[in-house]
Amino acid sequence: MEQIHVATSSRPYDVLVGAGLLDHIGELVRDVTKLGRCCVVTETNVGPLYADRVEAALGAAGLDVVGRITFPAGEASKTLATLGGILEDLAERELTRDDVVVALGGGVTGDMGGLAAALYLRGIKVVQVPTSLLAMVDSSVGGKTAVDLTAGKNLVGAFWQPSLVVADVDALATVPPELFRDSCGEVVKHAVLADADLLDTLTAHPLTESRGAATLVDVVARNVRIKRDVVVADEREGGLRQTLNLGHTVGHAIESASDFSLGHGSCVAAGLCVIARGSAALGWCSVQTAGRIERCVAAHGLPTSTELPTDLLMRYAAHDKKRHGAAVNVVVPREVGRCEVRCVGLDDLRRLIDLGR
Ligand code: GLY
Repeated sequence: MEQIHVATSSRPYDVLVGAGLLDHIGELVRDVTKLGRCCVVTETNVGPLYADRVEAALGAAGLDVVGRITFPAGEASKTLATLGGILEDLAERELTRDDVVVALGGGVTGDMGGLAAALYLRGIKVVQVPTSLLAMVDSSVGGKTAVDLTAGKNLVGAFWQPSLVVADVDALATVPPELFRDSCGEVVKHAVLADADLLDTLTAHPLTESRGAATLVDVVARNVRIKRDVVVADEREGGLRQTLNLGHTVGHAIESASDFSLGHGSCVAAGLCVIARGSAALGWCSVQTAGRIERCVAAHGLPTSTELPTDLLMRYAAHDKKRHGAAVNVVVPREVGRCEVRCVGLDDLRRLIDLGR
């Protein structure tokens, strides 16, 4: 098992990455939360697969499981209405400030359980138990929690660090191959940000083709370390944490313009390649760097470009959350393992996208 300590200033915690951890989750949770009561928050796909096992392990370790809250699986559940229902359920079960929410599932569950824990009684503990690759390598670490509004995704939320993250890679066995492939977009992004060796390893041995437990533990742990180093330095996204948005300016535009028919990771992968090629054309990185990034994306069967016209992409990219007046912060690769945030005017963003498409 890999143990990664995340020393954020608001709360230090460990991320545990291993195989077979769900059966030991009781002892792991008890070690950090003592003998409080706990409530599992999960959704309709993951709950039937793992919640009985998790609750049995929590009970066997002496924790009092006061219930399970299950909401409908999918991004459509990331609403204030679902959140309100979860909060009412926590209150009905009389959870107190000594108790803990166990968020069992993928990214949406991490958001719902995490934000409910952040708000209930002005904040109770949450243990994140990610079961998707995206949640393991990204969303369960760093404390971002949010729900969507009609106006856009993740517009209401809080930074609320978990007390523990338990990533059992065995749970990835039940992730559909296409969803697993999609999540590899964020894995490649992390490698481009901070781990050139990981990028080359992934190009030679794509994660989509090597899903053995030892490989998964190694790759997930390396990703968590990359994210840990960023969020510990900049917990509330004042600067360095913005680099985690690599590929997202164009990726979000592709996602919105295609009406969310393409997965988030695939859009990020395509956005990453567009920005890399555009950056190479403008002399911000070498052609070799852009090629190296593209090869890794292609090796995972993820899209390296988009058919969508620049005008359409600009319509969405210009309204990105990361816009500052007439400029947008874009993360650009200088070389593999070194990226920087550039504040570019809308005309320059258009050029970047046009050259990179
Ligand atoms: N997923 C980007 C972040 O946590 O900042």
